[in-house]
Amino acid sequence: MHSDIERILYNEKELADLTDRLANKINADYENKQLVVVGILKGSIVFLADLFRKITVDCTLDFMEASSYGSSAVSSGEVKILKDISTDIKNKDVLIVEDILDTGNTLSYIKKYLGTFSPSSVKICTLFDKPCRRQKPVTPDYYGAAIEDLFIVGYGLDYAEKYRNLPYVGVLKPETYHLTV
Ligand code: IMP
Ligand code: MG
Repeated sequence: MHSDIERILYNEKELADLTDRLANKINADYENKQLVVVGILKGSIVFLADLFRKITVDCTLDFMEASSYGSSAVSSGEVKILKDISTDIKNKDVLIVEDILDTGNTLSYIKKYLGTFSPSSVKICTLFDKPCRRQKPVTPDYYGAAIEDLFIVGYGLDYAEKYRNLPYVGVLKPETYHLTV
């Protein structure tokens, strides 16, 4: 285990089980649909790489990157698109894939934005959900696990861009975690 990690919350086997369960539901729901998977950079990529290989229905893949305005750790609620999709999603079934749904600011903005391109549907699949932190009324259509108000890293999730490469999801030691970054 990495020396900055206090405890592991989900190990590799548990993450694979969560991903299996999500893929099974998605495969059942999107049979005969025109699925466009939109991964949200950067946090989703490890989860997405595993999930995507378990999707058996016809689908295409695209990415978006978004960030909150300002440098404060407290999300301002305003979202800036840093990378847009290049796929025509009109009349397609869009599935947004995200690492974690927190305040909901990012995904409520992205969901609304993608909705302006007249897709048949826009749904959200997030590996983790922190419902207690929600500020916007957004609910995931698919989520791997709900967690309490903890800051987690690994399996794509970062703290100040670090720890994305850890193969498990863990909680940082308090001395590593500075709220001001
Ligand atoms: P929201 O707009 O507040 O829902 O923010 C979602 C984004 O905040 C996620 O895509 C993550 O990048 C980040 N985030 C929220 N909670 C955590 C966490 O516990 N660990 C790592 N990143 C997090
Ligand atoms: Mg993210």
